[in-house]
Amino acid sequence: MKNFNPTQTNAWNKLQSHFETIKDTHLTSLFKDTNRASTFTIQWQDFLVDYSKNRITEETKTLLLELAEEVGLSEAITSYFGGDSINATEGRAVMHTALRDFSDVAFQKEEVAQVRSSIKTFTKSIIDGAHKGATGKTITDVVNIGIGGSDLGPVMIVEALQYYKNHLSTHFISNVDGDHVMETIKDLDPETTLFVIVSKTFTTQETLSNATTVRKWFVDQLGEQAVENHFVAVSTNLEAVQNFGIASQNIFPMWNWVGGRFSLWSSVGLSIALAVGYDHFEQLLKGAHEMDIHFKEQPFEENIPVITALLSVWYNNFFGAESEAVIPYTQYLHRLPAYLQQAIMESNGKSVDRNGNRVTYETGNIIWGEPGTNSQHAFFQLIHQGTKLIPADFIGFKKSLHGNTDHHDKLMANFFAQTEALMNGKTEAQVLSEFEGSTLSRKRIEQLTPFKVFEGNKPTTTYLIDTLSPKTLGALIGMYEHKIFVQGVIWNIYSYDQWGVELGKQLAKQILSDFQDVNTSKHDASTKQLMNSYKKD
Ligand code: F6P
Repeated sequence: MKNFNPTQTNAWNKLQSHFETIKDTHLTSLFKDTNRASTFTIQWQDFLVDYSKNRITEETKTLLLELAEEVGLSEAITSYFGGDSINATEGRAVMHTALRDFSDVAFQKEEVAQVRSSIKTFTKSIIDGAHKGATGKTITDVVNIGIGGSDLGPVMIVEALQYYKNHLSTHFISNVDGDHVMETIKDLDPETTLFVIVSKTFTTQETLSNATTVRKWFVDQLGEQAVENHFVAVSTNLEAVQNFGIASQNIFPMWNWVGGRFSLWSSVGLSIALAVGYDHFEQLLKGAHEMDIHFKEQPFEENIPVITALLSVWYNNFFGAESEAVIPYTQYLHRLPAYLQQAIMESNGKSVDRNGNRVTYETGNIIWGEPGTNSQHAFFQLIHQGTKLIPADFIGFKKSLHGNTDHHDKLMANFFAQTEALMNGKTEAQVLSEFEGSTLSRKRIEQLTPFKVFEGNKPTTTYLIDTLSPKTLGALIGMYEHKIFVQGVIWNIYSYDQWGVELGKQLAKQILSDFQDVNTSKHDASTKQLMNSYKKD
């Protein structure tokens, strides 16, 4: 991939001057153009992506697209899908897209198909009860033990697809917090529970500790010989899994070319397939694959991941926005922001460019959010009237799954109302007119008015999707994955490594052994004081 400083490109310089001319323009004035809504909308399959409530003009879009061309985005996309080692610091290709490619030309087609087929066979045997536990009972509960990408993707999707769920109860253990482990297993019956241990590396402290505790709890009740019917694992590290005591026929492999935070499409998605059945899992993959094709083939000006990534760059690097909110208007997507935090922040939270130099510009944005309407009653005040600019993604669905149109209309009325309010705000004149006929004194009205004014001009992008289905969900997640890629290309950073999480892991190991003798350990005075206080209790 090309190596450059994006701020040195012609397009960046033009964007900088353009920014100076547009930065104070209010969105409401841009809407004097009666074609604006349709000009800045992409309709793709069941998705209507309306990005007209963003602080851009046609010139902004042209310049952002010029930037994409100038940094070599087209060639980068070819390298990404072509299996080049674009994760250069780890010497790996980034091929999670191959996991959802059912075509004849797919990368490692046979191996991928074989793993999919074993997921299908296994999940069917658990769901229809053919696979029995060691004491002859059918499985009723599935516990996924993993962390980071080995947890967040599966839990987010299982929650999102609750409507499509079968009779199995699915549980997730991720935190090394023993209380989390014990709370999860305390009411489970080992005779009817399947444990899925998910760790790409099979070296992650949290997952191995949790799996060891759970295995012991299980063996204490049913004995060692029962493990085979109740424990399966997903990993690239087959040897470590076998050493842990899981038979080779119970291992679902994955590959090094699948990054942890992009792995839900692989056998890491086993608990998804168990929860909603293999056919729904396949629909999820197919939806993502269709987004892959859209991303690869659609001209940039009509390309959802490209446009949305460019908008992020626009706010991050020109407006100085530090964070972005993701607000799904469905309770089913309540784990989406947490999932995207890992996907986006672990990928683009980098400060060294592809030359190994400290970047001279901002990179990855902070991602946060909660479902609407709950979030309206929590943090929306700050988005509306705070001092920070927070571009937000609003994700909503035209149809409710349970068909309660009364509730759905209320939900969606809020969805549309918020983006409109964020854009328009409320002027002083509007506030004053609302006071007309009020019994308040003129003085009191004058005092209150500034607090009731909303500046507006807060940017949002609306994703209006027909229904929440495995297919549309796959496409939505695929869209964010490609958005991450585009941003990484523009910022000239490596999006697919995560060295930043290593230091904390190393130190935690050290501190664990230093608990034995805190005073002679080499920690700073504050850390020693805290460790001593912890050990005394
Ligand atoms: O947080 C660091 C990380 O390496 C993530 O990238 C990964 O998803 C997670 O740990 C879990 O890793 P593993 O699947 O190897 O246990």
